Amino acid sequence: MPVTPAAVQEADRRAHLHPFTSAADHAEALPRVMVGGEGIRVRDSAGHEYVDAMAGLWCVNAGYGRSEIADAVAAQARRLPYYHTFSGMANEPSARLAERLVELAPGDMSKVFFGSSGSETNDTQVKVVRYYHNVLGQPRKKKIIARKGAYHGATLAGASMSGMAHMHRGFDLPLAGFLHVGSPHHYWQAPEGMSERDFSASLADELEQTILREGPDTVAAFIAEPIQGAAGVVVPPEGYFEAIVPVLRKYDVLFIADEVICGFGRLGRWWGSDYYGLEPDLVSTAKGLTSGYVPMSACLISSKVWEVLRQGSAEYGPFAHGYTYSGHPLAAAAALANIDFISAEGLVENAADVGSHLQASLRDEFADHPLVGEVRGVGLIAGVELVEDKAAKKPFELSRGVARRLHEILMDAGLICRPVFNTLTFSPPLVITRDDVDAVVSTFATGLDRLTDELSAERA
Ligand SMILES: Cc1ncc(COP(=O)(O)O)c(C=O)c1O
Repeated sequence: MPVTPAAVQEADRRAHLHPFTSAADHAEALPRVMVGGEGIRVRDSAGHEYVDAMAGLWCVNAGYGRSEIADAVAAQARRLPYYHTFSGMANEPSARLAERLVELAPGDMSKVFFGSSGSETNDTQVKVVRYYHNVLGQPRKKKIIARKGAYHGATLAGASMSGMAHMHRGFDLPLAGFLHVGSPHHYWQAPEGMSERDFSASLADELEQTILREGPDTVAAFIAEPIQGAAGVVVPPEGYFEAIVPVLRKYDVLFIADEVICGFGRLGRWWGSDYYGLEPDLVSTAKGLTSGYVPMSACLISSKVWEVLRQGSAEYGPFAHGYTYSGHPLAAAAALANIDFISAEGLVENAADVGSHLQASLRDEFADHPLVGEVRGVGLIAGVELVEDKAAKKPFELSRGVARRLHEILMDAGLICRPVFNTLTFSPPLVITRDDVDAVVSTFATGLDRLTDELSAERA
């Protein structure tokens, strides 16, 4: 019997507990089911087409429907669908991919450790950091400093590093030893009139005071996204990393760059670290690594850290960490084909070029809009933050769900942006063109005007 779209919706409603979704609401409502996609567009089971200005969840960098990637996965599935990488075993795609990533990586990376998600990879980073300091005979040096507003995943360690209260409430998190310093959100967090540079200096000072308060011999690592995605696309203020990195170096604190969103071309460079001139000790990557075609993530490990891990073998024997699917051949085949596709199509360059058009268009069109507090972004990642009172800089109460309302209006108009807090975010596939951007901006403008009218009518 054919499975009808309605039956799929009903099965999902009845049996599926969804991530980051109200369990109670989902039990009542029918989900939108996506069934196909091509380039920057996806299609749902009711036949509606959408421009996916979010590339799924910030990940389908190569766009939908790339037969190059699908074919590489299918060919590998026929040849060898699985072989593990424990105990020194290898498979061809993951070996080739590791080498490719070391070549592509920012800074001085020499090894790659594979996982299947950004969360797993950030968990792995915590274990790598602990192991590193244990081998160096610094057993107290274990605390991890992250930032408010950060998103580093949903596992116990990932959520502990994430700086979002709603991810901690109800789960008894963060775990001990995870600290958070201030968010680099200049618009909301800088005192009135403070320049971006002075704000950066104050954040570096806060970081230093935190390290001194905790004791430098207890602080192991600092983790940061080059641009905070899930916080609402928070771009660091001018001079931020230049101010932060010397503090880390001064107190021998490892720097983990969480490139899960920024990596693979999103900012118009291969890595956010390239864009900001960073040389992290460890890099987390996922999402754009395979453009989401198959789950995969990777920790990129610098020569400095690798050298210590190597020494650890004498004391600890095998590096007792890994996942059944570390270096999965299908995922690695997808990643290799994806990297080939991104390179051959010049998608990183396209992200820089079309990204500058997106940034300029969003600012031209919305920076002065009465409902818009700030437009932010770099390359093909952007956020438009809504405020209740622009002059008084008064945010909307989150409980009003204003960004979610605009999201629904835009969905009905065939455009997918993502509402996070009061911000609508954009992170389209890197194949997007200037004309596509114009259409996205125009649809967004119509939606924003409609929301403005609705809110005025409700006030009247
Ligand atoms: C910066 C960052 N790190 C980590 C993660 C977690 O990745 P995953 O959902 O694949 O576990 C995300 C997911 O959005 C992310 O944005």
